[in-house]
Amino acid sequence: MARIAHLSDLHFGAHDPRIVAATEAWLQERQPDLIIVSGDFTQRARVDQFREASAYLNRLRAAGFRTLVVPGNHDVPLYDVFRRFGAPLARYERFIDNDLAPWFENDEIAVLGINTARSLTIKDGRISHDQIALIHQRFRAVASSKTRILVSHHPLYAMPIGEGGELSQAVGRHRDAVKAVCEAGVHLALAGHFHRTYAQSARKMVENAGSALVMQAGTATSTRLRNSELQSFNWIHAHRHDEVELQVIAWDGSGFRRGNHARFTYGEDGWLAGTAREDAEHPDPPYGRSVAL
Ligand SMILES: [Fe+2]
Repeated sequence: MARIAHLSDLHFGAHDPRIVAATEAWLQERQPDLIIVSGDFTQRARVDQFREASAYLNRLRAAGFRTLVVPGNHDVPLYDVFRRFGAPLARYERFIDNDLAPWFENDEIAVLGINTARSLTIKDGRISHDQIALIHQRFRAVASSKTRILVSHHPLYAMPIGEGGELSQAVGRHRDAVKAVCEAGVHLALAGHFHRTYAQSARKMVENAGSALVMQAGTATSTRLRNSELQSFNWIHAHRHDEVELQVIAWDGSGFRRGNHARFTYGEDGWLAGTAREDAEHPDPPYGRSVAL
């Protein structure tokens, strides 16, 4: 089994330092095999914000954690037009990671990160033909027993956002992306961007979804919340490629607590969620609607 902490949308510059410290304490205690951060390290891609984000990441790396990170749209300068179009990810590459297609593989999981942040489609993100080719190429060589995981900042699938259940914009060229995910046999598609926790079998979202289970992380540390969903991150246990457990770790105003929990198993009908477990310590999870089952 692989234990993965999936954090997203840290937004240094609009972050709560108390929550940042609480994530570090939590990670130290739980010792995940891999920490994934799916973009938006900063609020406005400013140097001081990148320095804070970099210090955070460096503390985790110095503590011995393996990390896999991708940029988000907020990591591309918005107002500095020269940088935005000339070198949109120069600061990200300098302070966070110069690998824009990071790869992690151990005996149980294979994880590919792709960059969906673009200068032109500043908010919505995009995936390129080269990245689609890379998804095929990288996962083709992976043993079939391993859980194949794809990480992006922007969701590859249109998903419900807001109170009315309206669907979000999916990443640009998403039909091609979804096809690649299907053909490459990706089991988990992890993303962020909407500051909203969500988990759903891709088969319920698109046709020809293959074996993908979509998992969205909320914002881990930002003070800018959507739909009054407080800060959270996802604690994922990849038991096998056909059995995955998601525990939402949710901020309750003073500490991180266990929120919603779901165990997904993959069979003939795709991914099915088991019944959510009532947490004995916290029988009333604060995010009752955050995991779609
Ligand atoms: Fe974003």
